[in-house]
Amino acid sequence: MTPAEAQKRIAQLRHELASHDEHYYRQARPEISDFEYDVLKAELADLEARFPELATVNSPTRRVGDDRAEGFARVKHRLAMTTLDNTYDEAELREFHARLVKALASEDLDYTVEPKIDGVAVSLTYEHGRLTRAVTRGDGEEGDDVTANVRTLRGLPHTLRPGDDLLAPALPELIEIRGEIFLREEEFRRINQLQEEAGEALYANPRNLAAGTLKLLDPKLVTARRLEVVLYGMGACEPAPELLALDAQTTLQTRLQEWGLPVVDKFWAVRGIDAVWAAIGELDRLRRSFAYPTDGAVVKLNRFSQQAVVGYRGAGQAARKLSPRWACAYKFAPDRAETRIRAISLQVGRTGAVTPVAELEPVLLAGTTVKRATLHNADEIARKDVRVGDAVLVEKAGEIIPAVVEVLLAKRPADSVPYVFPPECPACGTALVREEGGVKWLCPNPACPEKVRRKIEHFASKACLDIDGLGEEVVDLLLRHGLIKNLADLFTLKVDVLLPLKKSGEVWANNLVNAIAARRRADLWRVIHGLGIPQVGAASAKDLARRFRSLDALAAASLNDLVQIDGFGEKTAEAVRRWFDEPANQVLIAALLAAGLEPTPPGEAAAGAVLAGKTLVLTGTLPSLSRDEAAALIEAAGGKVSGSVSRKTHYVVAGEDAGSKLEKAKSLGVPVLDEAGLRALLG
Ligand code: IVH
Repeated sequence: MTPAEAQKRIAQLRHELASHDEHYYRQARPEISDFEYDVLKAELADLEARFPELATVNSPTRRVGDDRAEGFARVKHRLAMTTLDNTYDEAELREFHARLVKALASEDLDYTVEPKIDGVAVSLTYEHGRLTRAVTRGDGEEGDDVTANVRTLRGLPHTLRPGDDLLAPALPELIEIRGEIFLREEEFRRINQLQEEAGEALYANPRNLAAGTLKLLDPKLVTARRLEVVLYGMGACEPAPELLALDAQTTLQTRLQEWGLPVVDKFWAVRGIDAVWAAIGELDRLRRSFAYPTDGAVVKLNRFSQQAVVGYRGAGQAARKLSPRWACAYKFAPDRAETRIRAISLQVGRTGAVTPVAELEPVLLAGTTVKRATLHNADEIARKDVRVGDAVLVEKAGEIIPAVVEVLLAKRPADSVPYVFPPECPACGTALVREEGGVKWLCPNPACPEKVRRKIEHFASKACLDIDGLGEEVVDLLLRHGLIKNLADLFTLKVDVLLPLKKSGEVWANNLVNAIAARRRADLWRVIHGLGIPQVGAASAKDLARRFRSLDALAAASLNDLVQIDGFGEKTAEAVRRWFDEPANQVLIAALLAAGLEPTPPGEAAAGAVLAGKTLVLTGTLPSLSRDEAAALIEAAGGKVSGSVSRKTHYVVAGEDAGSKLEKAKSLGVPVLDEAGLRALLG
């Protein structure tokens, strides 16, 4: 490879990795598997090593992904949270050991081998044994303050147990304890089931769902999803660890457990790299029985004094610390299987997004037969040069939909031709348009039969109007017979036109017409959700229904009115405005109302409710009210409790140990109340 070629490839890889980082860390919706990501990153690191003149300080290989999101206060870690170097290769793991043998001039090194938990990294600060703060990794130096959300975690003590042993060292004055927040597989499936019923997008895997949940702005919503945490490491500690007899990773594990904190099910303390390798094998056999998802093993030099000798990469330069030389992650390759692509089909969703799907020769993978796998989007097909007839590897790494991860070029049929993503919608032939700033291709035709079908299915689904008996099959039947063309037509269906569709269909026809009629007065938010406005899920639909109380008022809302709604960003506001500006949608609304739909606005808060229209934020521990009790009182008085402080917050109610939210309230000039103040306000 010439330097010019390397430069081109490096630029391409950096660009791709930056885009995947954005999806993984900030949006918690990755487009490729971790393994594919690691492969791209390894290629970049390799090129940068071969062409050092092309390496730059801000390359993705030298950065920690950034998970910081809007709506959270930023907190600096006392000791930076670095990541780990990882490998899928035994030889590289042995090189890690060889480097340490050299640096420490000793063959007999003691290690711990721990499960590598596939969760979301978090740093918990305990001061004098009390949990005072929880912060995400962020960019490694500074993360998001997620204390309110982390306090809802079952199984995480807010106070450390000092231990019964009188000789045991006291609790540290301050300690940053590091670990991973995760969701159990069952909980992941339960929530995705609810998402599906609610017509919301599914989460790709438990890690993404955990990450998304941790970044919810309302701690009450977090409680409803059973996040858990497991702890394994330490950041800053005062007084210094050696004064607390904390001298090794094994001691730390014991101490965390004595303090009552959740720790890993099992870890191995071993000497030498062969024993490390044996422990990794044992871990791989056991790991599926653990509560948390694991994607590898973390091997750490046990003694802190030895860790200090070898230190961190990047520590010498002005740049930040990168990763410890004393630890290495060995990752288990995900379950994969080889098969062949019979065809590539295209699915049109209700928003018009066209998703390519590989139709496969059926293959057994991680216990299930896989016949279809996602190809993500046109760019991914082009990047991998996926063709019909190709032998491919499919992967299922906890994800719901298996994905095609690699084309086996050596097995490519001689007569294969590159796949050309069709420029037209497969359902209606309209020229596709590229999603603004995104990778999707969209069918812009509002009358596209596939879009219409998906929209009607969504409108009738449990999450929206919840019309009994109007599932995919019946929608298909009605469309095929030309009885409906849009949502409004549902409300004008008559029994006599349905009768010929089914043998002895009288009962069926009557039930269906009655079921539809029963939803004429559906909740306004269900109707709004059912319209399928981009960016508007059930929660936003409820906000819109509360604020505008009728479809007409919502249709007339200005961008400014929309951004005033708590939790609405510009993107959502614009999406709503754009939807109502579309003439076809105005026709649809008029048709729905003309067909007799009478959406019901939410009940008013009790007349004269003192907190009607007011948003409050709770922070810290109140003297006599629990958080739930305080929230219930506020809501009963017509107020809304929000998880984050903004200019739109009317009051912050602060108790003991109030942290960054209180600071933010002060900096924004939001009035702060204590419990007595809240009670006075409530009268
Ligand atoms: S120790 C200095 N131990 O995996 C970094 N990390 O891919 C020390 N992780 O950044 C981290 N399980 O967020 C450590 N048993 C374990 C772990 C673990 C999962 C996470 C952690 C780390 C990332 C690296």
